Amino acid sequence: MSVDTVNLERIGKLRETKASMRLGGGEKRLDSQRKKGKLTVWERIEYFFDAGTFEEVGGFIDHRSTNFGLEKSRVAGDGVVTGFGRVNGMLVYIAAQDFTVMGGSLGEMHGRKIANIMDVAIANGAPMVMLNDSGGARIQEGIGALCGYGEIFFRNTKASGVIPQISVIMGPCAGGAVYSPGITDFVAMVQDSSYMFITGPEVIKTVTGENVTKDTLGGGDIHMEKSGVATYVGEDDETTLDWVKVLLSYLPANNDNAPARVPSKVPQLDVAELDSFVPSNPNKGYDIGGVIDRLVDSGSFFELQENFAKNISIGFARMDGISVGVVANNPKNLAGCLDVDASDKAARFVRFCDAFNIPLLTLVDVPGFLPGTDQEYSGIIRHGAKLLYAYSEATVPKLTVIMRKSYGGAYICMCSKHLGADMVVAWPGSEIAVMGPKGAVNIIFRKDIMEAEDQAERAKELESEYTDKFANPQLAASMGYVDNVIEPNQTRSTVINYLKSNLGKRQITPRRKHGNIPL
Ligand code: HXC
Repeated sequence: MSVDTVNLERIGKLRETKASMRLGGGEKRLDSQRKKGKLTVWERIEYFFDAGTFEEVGGFIDHRSTNFGLEKSRVAGDGVVTGFGRVNGMLVYIAAQDFTVMGGSLGEMHGRKIANIMDVAIANGAPMVMLNDSGGARIQEGIGALCGYGEIFFRNTKASGVIPQISVIMGPCAGGAVYSPGITDFVAMVQDSSYMFITGPEVIKTVTGENVTKDTLGGGDIHMEKSGVATYVGEDDETTLDWVKVLLSYLPANNDNAPARVPSKVPQLDVAELDSFVPSNPNKGYDIGGVIDRLVDSGSFFELQENFAKNISIGFARMDGISVGVVANNPKNLAGCLDVDASDKAARFVRFCDAFNIPLLTLVDVPGFLPGTDQEYSGIIRHGAKLLYAYSEATVPKLTVIMRKSYGGAYICMCSKHLGADMVVAWPGSEIAVMGPKGAVNIIFRKDIMEAEDQAERAKELESEYTDKFANPQLAASMGYVDNVIEPNQTRSTVINYLKSNLGKRQITPRRKHGNIPL
């Protein structure tokens, strides 16, 4: 075939154009991005996707604003790269902001590109990942920028429970921009180079006189420990993107699929150690991580929101290669009590697992809801109700292990039989009662104790009587609220057997538009 030089020239020109498009805001700005310890937008994309799998969509799109001389700063792509590729073989859609182009600010077309790729992700039932690195609404574009955000929030909501949505904050994320991550299922942040807040330090100083830095206002640690906004904080861009890749491996592509099953790896830690791991003294704490690691497939526990509401642990794990969502009281902190933050943390996770066909494994050792005015004023009634609601509405397989204490409303709340658990097993030392012995005796035997010669001795006697009656799972098992009492060392095999027997579970719920979860 003869060579068509005109065509070859056109191809050459296209290559040149595309190479220059890759430079975004130019070499100087790319260097400045790298000097901040950040990857550039294309480096991030190349690092994230399996080699050679990324396809860009809308790379030529540009803004059309002429306000304040904006026509002079037109860069193809308009400051965001959108497209799709494979992550460990899984189809994933992405929108990645380019801070080198007008600070990654979001104008009308930048917003439209993100909205478009979200529509395609929803239509194709594949996860959507957003890499945020932006100065927020493009000030020169006014309403066009606000419209862009509105269109994104609308789609975040539409996609919720349909495809997994993951936000990665890799630079600034300020003002209304924070509400897209706020809606998505998971938020990863990068230590030191990312921050999120509604109003920045300058505005705060003007309005309230408070002096605060970007980091102490909305850095990774703050959102990991205090606000609960961040699911994870990585030390740099690479670590954070690695975390997202692992997260994706536990998830299905959409709400019509189940997560991929992987070859099972038995725990390296001895499951038989569970017979002694949880102290028989109900007042002694321990770290629930030690129980989880002995139950789930080796090294598979992928904890989320690790430093927030540490009295409850949540995360994905695998049992015989099957993805499960683990919710577990952690007696190492606040004796494993449920409080406002723990209820929120667990409830949102339970709802995610339910929406995406991930069975729930609940490990119970809970003395109750945390008492006090602080909790009552913060609305523990509303927040605790979320967890009850989330478990009650969940139709995925629900497997519960009662390990030690399980008192009162918290017993019901932690995926009891009454909320539709498919399996409840208890260890021999578990105590299922309305409340702990001390509190109970003081209420029901107050008169008896007051009239006794030695009040302390009588209280002790009654406490031990109460403990004898309730410090075992027999009563609950005899009523059918516990399916079996098992030795701790049998827990892994029992859970796996129940899990496999429940994978085909079907549950029809009455038609409704949606429920009204307490918020
Ligand atoms: C237009 C912007 C911009 C914005 C940054 N730039 N933010 N352009 N609109 N929102 C431009 C800068 O003019 C600059 O252009 C380039 O991006 C890099 O910004 P620098 O300030 O030089 O970078 P840096 O020092 O790293 O500071 C980053 C920053 C700062 C902290 C994000 O740029 C900043 O405070 N930006 C404004 C943040 C903000 O208030 N956004 C609006 C939030 S309200 P040149 O050409 O000089 O390099 C909001 C409402 C959304 O978003 C509502 C949705 C519901």
